[in-house]
Amino acid sequence: MDVDPCTYNFSTSELERKLAAADRSGKLPKALILVHFAGQPCDLAGIAASARRYGITLIEDASHALGASYLNRPIGSCEYSDATVFSFFATKSIATGEGGMVLTNRERVARNVKLLRAHGIVHDTSALEPWRYEQVGLGFNYRMTDIQAALGASQLKKLDGFLARRRQLAARYCEGLIDLPLQLPYRDSISTPAWHLYPIMITGEARAARRRALYFALREHGIRSQVHYIPIHTQPYYRDLGFRAGDFPAAEYYYEGALSLPLFVDLAESDQDRVIEIVRATLIER
Ligand SMILES: Cc1ncc(COP(=O)(O)O)c(C=O)c1O
Repeated sequence: MDVDPCTYNFSTSELERKLAAADRSGKLPKALILVHFAGQPCDLAGIAASARRYGITLIEDASHALGASYLNRPIGSCEYSDATVFSFFATKSIATGEGGMVLTNRERVARNVKLLRAHGIVHDTSALEPWRYEQVGLGFNYRMTDIQAALGASQLKKLDGFLARRRQLAARYCEGLIDLPLQLPYRDSISTPAWHLYPIMITGEARAARRRALYFALREHGIRSQVHYIPIHTQPYYRDLGFRAGDFPAAEYYYEGALSLPLFVDLAESDQDRVIEIVRATLIER
């Protein structure tokens, strides 16, 4: 799937076109996994309607979108999907070191996820033999440790504060950069992003060279930015599967000009002002 040039999420029209083509050739996928990129919710209603039409399971990867909402419902409600997954890796808005969470409203999915988490074993405490357990499948140990879970549970209590701060910082970036030759993160009136990242996309002439210059200008001042992400189809594993540069033009166009500016809860406004100053000086000068 290519991305939507404004939201950088799944493009609903592209999805519809691809599913129709897949249906014609008898190659419909069993499941779709969408990513709420940078914490901006996807067009869930549109994507879910397409998935339903073709009987395809829909999984939300909400690793960037903890605390985001769509049509007044939190991401994770699984109103439009069969399951939603979150990552609590160290770079995410709440962190447990490693590990994550699966949310679902489907009994069968919940049961299977629990089985996969712990060795494919079910415990049946209602039986006459209370010691009884049954190995119903082959599974591995995918458990998060209790200590990690306790850390996550205590961070979850602070999530609203984390989100408010991220929202504030995102608004300050928007205010400080709005007049530059940039595409700032997408906003709409039906969703609230989690602001996991603040990706800017440089527009106009020589975008790749200007992105590069900006990355190094920030780095010279001790400021670390990052590019999220190198399009996956250009990675060796996917090249070996037959994908080629040019296959997903919107993702490639985005990548050439993309840079994520520092955005984290402890970012001081004076430090953010320095970032804004350097972005302005670099992009206006060129
Ligand atoms: C969108 C997205 N999905 C999945 C992952 C993987 O998460 P984990 O490393 O916890 O499996 C990441 C991690 O960085 C991510 O950004």
